[in-house]
Amino acid sequence: MPEKLEFKRHRRLRSSDSMRSLIRENFLRTDDFIYPIFIIEGTAIKNEVSSMPGVFQVSLDRLKEEVEEIHALGIKAMMLFGVPSEKDEQGTGAFHESGIVQLATKLIKKEFPKMLVVADTCLCEYTSHGHCGVIYNQDVDNDESLKLLAKTAVAQAEAGADIIAPSNMMDGFVAVIRQALDDAGFENIPIMSYAVKYASAFYGPFRDAADSTPQFGDRKTYQMDSANRKEAMREAASDIEEGADFLIVKPALSYLDIVRDVKNNFNAPVVAYNVSGEYAMVKAAALNGWIDEQALVMEMLTSMKRAGADLIITYFAKDAAKWLND
Ligand code: PBG
Repeated sequence: MPEKLEFKRHRRLRSSDSMRSLIRENFLRTDDFIYPIFIIEGTAIKNEVSSMPGVFQVSLDRLKEEVEEIHALGIKAMMLFGVPSEKDEQGTGAFHESGIVQLATKLIKKEFPKMLVVADTCLCEYTSHGHCGVIYNQDVDNDESLKLLAKTAVAQAEAGADIIAPSNMMDGFVAVIRQALDDAGFENIPIMSYAVKYASAFYGPFRDAADSTPQFGDRKTYQMDSANRKEAMREAASDIEEGADFLIVKPALSYLDIVRDVKNNFNAPVVAYNVSGEYAMVKAAALNGWIDEQALVMEMLTSMKRAGADLIITYFAKDAAKWLND
């Protein structure tokens, strides 16, 4: 008798759709998604962002119909970005009571009370120079910026935001915002910190959409170097210490190792931000007929879950929700 050859038959568990779904380890749900939206000052505007087909800047008077669609798809959270018609050195539109994000928040919470409004807390869309803080001596001044960011977070909470998501990458932003929210009576409003945010070329299309390109220099003195991994752990650790309730890793696709590191080292919910450049690349290829968009998007989003993301901020949320509902 010849000896029986031993090897493992992995294909046994891949033999049919039913078998594959029986052993599937990770899943996408519509509840995983946060849909980012750009609200522009003005009326009757629904502008498609040229580098982000399918993504629009919408004015307040067109917002309700947009949210209706998102709500009907079962998406439970939206992230708001403002595109003001006027900017200044201090970015006052960010924290003004009638700033565009505050007005949009009020409208959404009035019409759709169950929709969770996540307010992006940053100054770059509102400053004339396009930096995420205020400028002194040609530099972004950390501690002066913190004061305005704290005011912004409180204004957003006063307007009814459910979650504050500071993306500015100033040191101490979570501590200062937590304290300001608590002092204003918002101790129950969570902070979804952009804890690990890299200085990335993947943000290009967003800066078209939000008109937030820095007018001089770049963001490398506050956003992280893409070559670094341990630094991400230091950023996440300090944010947790300062009171962050969620940790965002941004961008997502080229940083899935970091998503996994954050997941393994911290117990807070981990959020992957599938950013504008990641969206634009897929859309461009899809519009050329070079890829199967649905299959590719679902594969990408699932890979973020597999890497450890509990939630995904994505411009694909509407498409993915439709595909999941089908
Ligand atoms: C604001 C902010 C940015 C993004 C989210 N919040 C831009 C930036 O830091 O330049 C990028 C999101 C995306 O690319 O989809 N600071």
